[in-house]
Amino acid sequence: SEGRRPLVAGNWKMNGLLSSVPTVEAIRDGLSPALADKIDVLICPPATLISSCVAAVYGSVVAIGGQNLHARPSGAFTGSISAEMFADLGATYVIVGHSERRAYHYETDDGVHAKALGARRAGLRGIICVGETMEERQQGRALDIVRAQLAIGLPKGATGADTVIAYEPVWAIGSGRTPTATEIAEVHASLREMLDKLVGEEAHKIRILYGGSVKPSNARELMAVENVDGALVGGASLVAEDFLGICRAYE
Ligand code: G3P
Repeated sequence: SEGRRPLVAGNWKMNGLLSSVPTVEAIRDGLSPALADKIDVLICPPATLISSCVAAVYGSVVAIGGQNLHARPSGAFTGSISAEMFADLGATYVIVGHSERRAYHYETDDGVHAKALGARRAGLRGIICVGETMEERQQGRALDIVRAQLAIGLPKGATGADTVIAYEPVWAIGSGRTPTATEIAEVHASLREMLDKLVGEEAHKIRILYGGSVKPSNARELMAVENVDGALVGGASLVAEDFLGICRAYE
């Protein structure tokens, strides 16, 4: 919508061995030229597969990204990976503040902000994730929660070129449950209004993805919701035909 190019992104989470690289090749080969003209496609495999996946998609429309990063460029942070390291391998995106990172690794909105700055420093596009829990939704706090996550997480001067937002209601992730089209439209409109406040003119260029139990059978309906500029796909991105089925919502 409004001239924003849709982005269909896959998040493999902690899944995939070298034997999974053919899945990326099948996604690459399954995108028709017409579709590849219309949408951006991204796969975020585990860090261990970035190099192989970058090689596999070389020269195609498919981009490769990380799932998390350390905010600093380098240093004594055993086990961590910086934005510069992802960029060095040919990754062009990185997911920031996924709810699983927030829940299991205690990431805060300030931490998300620092990581988003790190991504930008290295020339990676950051996909900043926001989303409420079921309890927060039931308390009528969904909009307040996601707006605050966005306001704190988003770096000043964010642009459509360096930033993507992903709305992932925590209760919709991996659950097979999705919000209604009306509920999604309400959150995306609210996030877009917040973006307007935060970055002004540039706001209309920043894509807002929906994530949480997106599959081929619901993709068309979800992607048609106003202000939904693509999908962040977990489980269904592990199977090439399922992920391609979601991409084809834009055919
Ligand atoms: O980041 C995408 C993810 O959290 C959604 O997972 O399995 O519900 O598509 P899934």
